[in-house]
Amino acid sequence: MTAMTASMEPLAGEPIAIYVHWPFCHSKCPYCDFNSHVRESIDHAHWRSALLRELDHFAEETAGRRVSSIFFGGGTPSLMQPETVAALIERIRSTWPTGADLEITLEANPTSVEAARFAAFADAGVNRVSLGVQSLDDAALKFLGRHHSAREALEAVEIARRHFRRYSFDMIYGLPDQSIAAWGDELRSALRHVGEHVSAYQLTIEPGTVFHARHRRGAFDLPSDDDAGSLYEETQRMLREAGLPAYEISNHARPGSESRHNLTYWTGGDWIGIGPGAHGRLCRSRDGEIERVEFRQLRKPEQWLAAVESVGLGTEAIEPVSAQDFAEEMLMMGLRLTAGIDKARFQRRTNRPIEEWVDADALRDLIAWGLLEQTEGRLRATSSGLQRLNAVLGRLLS
Ligand SMILES: C[S@@+](CC[C@H](N)C(=O)[O-])C[C@H]1O[C@@H](n2cnc3c(N)ncnc32)[C@H](O)[C@@H]1O
Ligand code: SF4
Repeated sequence: MTAMTASMEPLAGEPIAIYVHWPFCHSKCPYCDFNSHVRESIDHAHWRSALLRELDHFAEETAGRRVSSIFFGGGTPSLMQPETVAALIERIRSTWPTGADLEITLEANPTSVEAARFAAFADAGVNRVSLGVQSLDDAALKFLGRHHSAREALEAVEIARRHFRRYSFDMIYGLPDQSIAAWGDELRSALRHVGEHVSAYQLTIEPGTVFHARHRRGAFDLPSDDDAGSLYEETQRMLREAGLPAYEISNHARPGSESRHNLTYWTGGDWIGIGPGAHGRLCRSRDGEIERVEFRQLRKPEQWLAAVESVGLGTEAIEPVSAQDFAEEMLMMGLRLTAGIDKARFQRRTNRPIEEWVDADALRDLIAWGLLEQTEGRLRATSSGLQRLNAVLGRLLS
């Protein structure tokens, strides 16, 4: 196993984030490749005790570390019973040290049935919701296979606003034949309801999804790269002018209202993931050395449940993350952020300066071409670098 040297940041000083995966949805959206499944019925009591049991296992791994955020993701966590959410939050609060500013997010579908439970989720301790609005155009919602209307989504946003000081919603753009004017109108309507945070994702066609098969058959076309670039730039401009600049390629917030949980992923932090298909990354101390490991939980809900019930843990694999892989991961994640990478932290976490992990010639070229820039101890992608991030990373890590 490749271990890192003991000079890494002390574990006690690094907080951890906790991700809880709820793998069920009412129906499967044709674009989505998340680990989400449709089941006729769910034994909620069973699931509650299994999630608590797996949490207890990770409590031993991370004893004494401070928890900075909890994220209920999915699937559709707004289909969880509020009692389950309350029990998990309660267990986390009684097991780990947490601060008064603990961020607790739950992803929700914007339907009236789910919005009716927002009060119960708030009582359970959730203090931030993220709603999958996706579009404010009924025809686009139909294309995306969603079962809510634009009106229902906006009503759910307004109910969320009443119950949670912090709320966000997701929009998807770059749909077939979507013009800049039409997307601009949609985004303008969205801005009338936006709070401190909004995510705008460009539609991607993921292998294994219904859209993948339909797109391959020629059932629809996506915008050209140029058109997609214009839609991206218009999104950036409108949200920036509304006081919600991007802090990550697809995520926008009023300054100070960024998702703390997601920042843990993007800054090479530590987190545990419980539930089917969840991933975790932890630095842990073994024989006086600090090693970074990746945990991967079994993806299939029934397999995960059976494993937790028999051995208390649904882990499929625990693998060491080599120092090289960790450095590459920090680069790939960190360059998604508009603030880029804090070079001193990068060096503390990986033991070597960025320049020693990347192709030095490529770094120089990418800076000269205006795709990367170094300022105030940070390495960041410029706005045109962000639009070509895969190519930038490809050169940097070649
Ligand atoms: C786990 S889902 C959100 C929670 C909830 N299940 C929902 O759909 O409302 C996370 C978000 O990823 C985005 N997403 C998923 N697949 C996508 C794709 N292929 N292209 C663009 N965005 C996608 C959607 O905006 C979605 O809201
Ligand atoms: S987008 Fe959300 S609701 Fe749709 S299948 Fe994916 S996780 Fe489920």
